[in-house]
Amino acid sequence: MSELDEIQQLRHDLELHNYNYYVRSNPTISDQEFDRLMHRLQELESRHPEAYDAASPTQRVGSDLTREFQHVRHRYPMLSLANTYSESEIRDWYERVSRGLGGEAFDVVCELKFDGTSISLWYDDGLLTRAVTRGDGQQGDDITANARTIRSIPLRLHGNYPERLEMRGEVLMPWSVFEQLNAQRAEQEEPLFANPRNATSGSIKQQDPAVVASRQLDSYLYYVLGDTLPCDTHYDNLLAARQWGFKISEHIRCCHSIEEVMAYIDYWDTERKNLPVATDGIVLKVNSLRQQEELGLTAKSPRWAIAYKFQAERALTRLNSVSFQVGRTGAITPVANLDAVQLSGTTVKRASLHNADIIRQLDLHIGDMVYVEKGGEIIPKITGVDVEARSFMMGAEVGFITRCPECGTELIRYDGEAAHYCPNDSGCPPQQIGKMEHFVSRRAMNIDGLGSETITMMYHAGMLHNIADIYELTVPSMARMERLGAKSAHNIRKAIEQSVQVPFERVLYAIGIRFVGETTARQLARAMRSMDAIRNASQEQLAAIDGIGQKIAQSICEYFRQVANCEIVDRLKAYGLQMETHAETAVASDRLAGKNIVVSGVFHSHSRDEYKQMIEQHGGKNTGSVTSKTDFILAGDNMGPAKLEKAKTLGISIISEEDFLLMIGQQ
Ligand code: IVH
Repeated sequence: MSELDEIQQLRHDLELHNYNYYVRSNPTISDQEFDRLMHRLQELESRHPEAYDAASPTQRVGSDLTREFQHVRHRYPMLSLANTYSESEIRDWYERVSRGLGGEAFDVVCELKFDGTSISLWYDDGLLTRAVTRGDGQQGDDITANARTIRSIPLRLHGNYPERLEMRGEVLMPWSVFEQLNAQRAEQEEPLFANPRNATSGSIKQQDPAVVASRQLDSYLYYVLGDTLPCDTHYDNLLAARQWGFKISEHIRCCHSIEEVMAYIDYWDTERKNLPVATDGIVLKVNSLRQQEELGLTAKSPRWAIAYKFQAERALTRLNSVSFQVGRTGAITPVANLDAVQLSGTTVKRASLHNADIIRQLDLHIGDMVYVEKGGEIIPKITGVDVEARSFMMGAEVGFITRCPECGTELIRYDGEAAHYCPNDSGCPPQQIGKMEHFVSRRAMNIDGLGSETITMMYHAGMLHNIADIYELTVPSMARMERLGAKSAHNIRKAIEQSVQVPFERVLYAIGIRFVGETTARQLARAMRSMDAIRNASQEQLAAIDGIGQKIAQSICEYFRQVANCEIVDRLKAYGLQMETHAETAVASDRLAGKNIVVSGVFHSHSRDEYKQMIEQHGGKNTGSVTSKTDFILAGDNMGPAKLEKAKTLGISIISEEDFLLMIGQQ
């Protein structure tokens, strides 16, 4: 086969694998095999620029930055839908449609109403030429480069598609991705996304398509437009679109009566909670395109369709007080204390009030009856006040504090940020205690035995003021404390001594520089190699490192500008903590190259995280679950029975801690 033929073959195969993976969720080859084929195609394409094709699977992540989005006029305006929350209004709509059609029989297609960002995709001769946001319905933003990174959006269609076609649908972030993204943002101390919808619209409008690609967005398409559609019903056109390669929900139903429609609504009202993506209602559409035309449009929305929105679960309860909490970074979080109330299966006593702006918008008063909602959010929030329930003896208006509730320092608000901060980071107790809790945590210095309570106790007893003081703790000084026996004191001291072995990247994470999470610390350690180099670097030098933006760079410089922080770092260095990347913490060998290893159980010589790190240092890959691709399992005591069973059936070897250390030459 010539290289040009091989390019064609690979493009075809990879497209099919993409489709199987992202649209059908049913991959037929392993990820490694997929990557291998993709690399081969990239290599061949770079050798044959004459074979360039914008629809090649290699073109999903463009490398060029789109500075600004172009406005594009929609070929057909993007209308919205009439909304209702009531089943009786659905029955009214059904009656209206029947009357509008002069009593003629009609079918209704029921669909889930996906809660993401709507998108319009243009295909000419089967190729994706444009992706446009809804915008104002007449004009939208051209986000083609970003849409190309969404794997379930076909770049090229298959089969018998119309020459010119427009496909409308929703771009979504699955719950699992949303939760992962927020966990990562929490670690980086970036503001969390309130729900997957906000996360989706925030992602799709990113200027850098590589960032969009990292957000793992998905799509469901629900509306085919064009002058030459293959079928004369909406339902059949959707089925055809599925054949062309689009992801069409499996849950669309063609109903013949209002009873069937109501049964669909009732079923999904509860069942939607088990879906991998967020939905906020049901969309009903008259099936026949001829009948759609006959019914026509109003100024804003078609008469042939309506949305039934699910009632957000909410409860009414009394606001008793508002407290203000100070976090490790000094951020102040207002929290509403409520009369306990049941909400979607859990008891809610507290709700986040987010920030001063939100409190002001709600016009809250103590004693108010407030609505609490969970909806798509993780933490319940107050969405409104039942003003009617206010008596003339209204409680005090809820204001925001101006001084830190813990140390009395005047609060500040950074430009462009909604939160208030206590700037006294070296003297404010919860900030001090929070920093120490972070420092000793498992993923940081892993000083076992020094829990929250003990740190708080030692702080108030004047034994600990900052993270460096931890290394001054002695067995006699600790053993003198109430509720802390000699044995615990010994164990803590031992853990403190062992922590000087913790690799530099984790020390960098542990000292708690704002915005420097685990990933950032690793990138910084790899690029700069020592604390001194980071301390002496300029903001520009830091910002030039992969993965470090201006905001992080500025925060690092700010940290080292403070004398108190430099003193702490100097003391840590004097206690013997790792202040540079050692050869053995970088790549140590390739003894485990290409091996997929699962770590399970409890270990003696090193922690589980350390083993995971060793695997990477020796070129292996640590994977979460046992599959046929697993090469071996590094097993400690009490390995999970399910994993053991699976390993047996798949014939995967189980390696002990000692054998593993031998394997990597550490024993
Ligand atoms: S049909 C003319 N179907 O809901 C009909 N819309 O106002 C056009 N949506 O922002 C829309 N799931 O993005 C339709 N299965 C579905 C939908 C859906 C979600 C969104 C759409 C639009 C809003 C309707």
